[in-house]
Amino acid sequence: MNNTSPIGVFDSGIGGLTVVRALMERLPFENLVYFGDTARVPYGVKSVETIAHYTTQIAQFLLEKNVKLLIIACNTMAAVAAQSVRDLSPVPVLDVIDAGALAARPGRRVGVIGTPTTINSNAYARAIHEYEPAIRIHSQACALFVPLVEEGWLDHEVTRLTAREYLKPLLAEKIDTLVLGCTHYPLLKPLLQEVAGPGVALVDSAEAMAEQAARLLHERGLENTGTAPPRYDYYVTDVPLRFQTIGERFLGRTLHPVHVVKW
Ligand code: DGL
Repeated sequence: MNNTSPIGVFDSGIGGLTVVRALMERLPFENLVYFGDTARVPYGVKSVETIAHYTTQIAQFLLEKNVKLLIIACNTMAAVAAQSVRDLSPVPVLDVIDAGALAARPGRRVGVIGTPTTINSNAYARAIHEYEPAIRIHSQACALFVPLVEEGWLDHEVTRLTAREYLKPLLAEKIDTLVLGCTHYPLLKPLLQEVAGPGVALVDSAEAMAEQAARLLHERGLENTGTAPPRYDYYVTDVPLRFQTIGERFLGRTLHPVHVVKW
């Protein structure tokens, strides 16, 4: 492992490409290797034991690729298995929940939205309170957002109505900050901002993650100081229908080379 080694980023499927996209923008010379468990997605409705088992399996796969940093891009994995990854990893591990919690700090009344597993785990509330115990936190599971985003309904009346319904209890608590606690939600930013109103600051955990990764690489002297075009590799466990279209929507650019891992 050295400074030109890739950063390993992983997720339950293709949603983690929102984190990859933010990393490409923030750290344009870093090599990246992405793993998306497209055969077993979604994780957001699975048991803690199953998620922890899958998560450590993926972390081990990426460690064999000689990564210099592991990034848990999936909020659901981070919510229930971040410690298991830290226990087995010889390289630093960052996760989106910690990054999102850190970025939510200026808020006083913080709303958190995520998958049912993420919200039930209470991981965001714990992480935010570690940084700032006085913040009031209100959480809401939004199970329908993942399929709506994958359908491409980013500015659709059905999504708008769904968002109004999900955000209603949070807005009733007069939140000033809304943490987008799921890989898919950055794509809904314009719509969520419209529904939440201008007085609510949105925290994009993908962007927060890229900032935290840049800081860590700098502090530990792990930055790739070269300026050659970086190498991006994508590993998935299945190539589902519309994979390319959906993946490129998340990534904001072409998605290749894609390697299929048979588990
Ligand atoms: N990647 C998951 C997350 O950020 C969403 C998709 C899933 O449920 O697996 O929570």
